[in-house]
Amino acid sequence: MAKLIVRNSGPLHGEVKISGSKNAVLPILAATLLTEDECIIQDAPALRDVEVMNQLLMSLGAKVESDLENNIVKVKAEGEISCEAPFELVKMMRASILVLGALLLRSGRALIHLPGGCAIGERPIELHLKGLRALGAEINEQSLAKGIVDAKADKLTGSTIYLDFPSVGATEVIIMAATLAEGTTVLENAAQEPEIVDLANYLNKMGARIKGAGTDTVKIEGVDKLHGVDHHVIPDRIEAGTFMVSAAITKGRVLVKNMLPDHLKAVIAKLRECGVVIENTDEGVIVDGSQNTIVSTDIKTLPYPGFPTDMQSPFMALLTVAKGPSVVMETVFENRFMHVAEFNRMGANIRTEGKCAIIPGGRQLHGAPVIATDLRAGASVVLTGLVADGTTEVSQIYHIDRGYEHFVEKLKALGADIERIDD
Ligand code: EPZ
Repeated sequence: MAKLIVRNSGPLHGEVKISGSKNAVLPILAATLLTEDECIIQDAPALRDVEVMNQLLMSLGAKVESDLENNIVKVKAEGEISCEAPFELVKMMRASILVLGALLLRSGRALIHLPGGCAIGERPIELHLKGLRALGAEINEQSLAKGIVDAKADKLTGSTIYLDFPSVGATEVIIMAATLAEGTTVLENAAQEPEIVDLANYLNKMGARIKGAGTDTVKIEGVDKLHGVDHHVIPDRIEAGTFMVSAAITKGRVLVKNMLPDHLKAVIAKLRECGVVIENTDEGVIVDGSQNTIVSTDIKTLPYPGFPTDMQSPFMALLTVAKGPSVVMETVFENRFMHVAEFNRMGANIRTEGKCAIIPGGRQLHGAPVIATDLRAGASVVLTGLVADGTTEVSQIYHIDRGYEHFVEKLKALGADIERIDD
């Protein structure tokens, strides 16, 4: 199994360019099924999850030209499209569920074997199904009991749908399904993440009529047809946040280019509370961890615009060495503290109580063999490896490959002592 060897690196310096957003490009690729025209997706990050989504689209019958060296994917879903998403692809990437709404519209049926829970939680989809039922889809209950989503709909009709929780995936699946439904759909308590705004912008360029994306109420007027577009994906706010923390934790100074600070207000506010100096310039965002002592702060993860759950473990890495105790509360996923055991192997001495982790802070960490328990946690143990005494060996790094483009190369360019050992 490939692994990363990370050594104490001293302060990072230089500049890093943020790649396109994984969580924006995946729903946008799913939405290419909504037209027979060619769609050109630019700034698509070269990630394992993008490759899996491309394979899924090809398995459904779409023509996919993937040039991830140049961050371009062209999709043309012309003619007959299969309604069944192959299990071997769905189990590699839960986000395969994002094709559900588009498949239903395109083929009148969608058959997806669910992969079940994962490291960070059970990952139910009852809200996705609640929305599709409200639009007129029939979900086979017997199949569902066996973990198979078998949804049918001759046509979809607009409706008002309330989401009990502002689920990102459910919001995206319902918006996609509503674009070609008959009549108007109003989605209440919708997720407000920037990736949903990017999806809505992409769909509106295809001819959809979506208003209110990025707020808790999204209105979609169904149209008859959507056409192909050429779209640039927004930068990845979680990758940007991860590199901001890399400058803070090593007391370095890094220029983060091609990021949108507005997408990271909560994270920037919290980094400033810790004493990190952050300056927006025309070149990008300068993150300086060398000016002040890095002190602790408390974190509570919430749906956007609250502090993002995907930044919980990277930020916890900083808190293990920050001066003073802190409490991190994870309210979005039920089991997203798997990285705590890895930080503790490095001497962090963190205690968890239910949804809370109590971090004593001010530790001098030591290198250890650790594992990446999810893609963000994988990046987090690399961050602590940069400041720990000695060497940290990170395994199960396929998680990192899922969500961070050229992660090792970008860190090396900032002066990190890191190398990848492939089998
Ligand atoms: C998206 O996952 C992201 N993935 C996740 O990023 C991110 O952590 C998450 O949103 C929250 O921001 C992609 O966009 C591909 P949710 P998603 O539905 O859509 C519960 C990463 O690291 N829920 O908003 O699966 C669910 O159990 C990944 O890039 C229900 O209860 O997230 C969870 O506790 C990890 N019922 C919470 O909502 C439902 O029907 C958030 O889930 C749906 C969700």
